[in-house]
Amino acid sequence: MSEHIFEPKIVAYVCNWCTYLGADQAGTNRLEYPSNVRIVRLPCTGRIDFNLIIKALEMGADAVLVSGCHPGDCHYTAGNYHARRRWTLFRSLLETMGVDLERIHFAWISAAEAKKFQKTITEITEKTRQMGPYKGYHSVCEASV
Ligand code: FES
Repeated sequence: MSEHIFEPKIVAYVCNWCTYLGADQAGTNRLEYPSNVRIVRLPCTGRIDFNLIIKALEMGADAVLVSGCHPGDCHYTAGNYHARRRWTLFRSLLETMGVDLERIHFAWISAAEAKKFQKTITEITEKTRQMGPYKGYHSVCEASV
C-alpha cells in the first residue's frame, strides 16, 4: 500500500514582462523545477490586489507567490513600487485575518533570471511541503461565521 505524499499547490502571480519571461526562459533552458506551481500572468505586479491572494487561498492554494520586475525596471514605470506598497498593507490585513504569512511570498525576478525563478519555485515548494496543506484560510472563514 503506497503512502499519500502531500504535493502543495502554489499559485504564482507574475508580471508579463519579467518573471513570466524568466519562467519561459527556465523552460527553454530545460531547467527543472517542481510542477506544483500554477502561473497566473498579470500585465504588471501593480495589478495585484488583496482579493487575488485571498481567492487563490480560497480555491485551495497552499502558498502564493507574487513576482515581477526589479525596482526601476517596471515596464509601466512604477507598477512594482505600487505593488510593494500594497504588499505592506496586504501583509497587515492578512495577518489580521489570521492567514499564515509564511505561505505568502514576494520576489523580483527578471526575464534573464531563469535560474532564480527555478530556485524560488523549488524553495517555496519545499518549504510548503514541510508545512503541510493549508487549512488556515478556511478556519478563519468558519470562525467569523
Ligand atoms: Fe513587471 Fe510592472 S511590468 S512589475
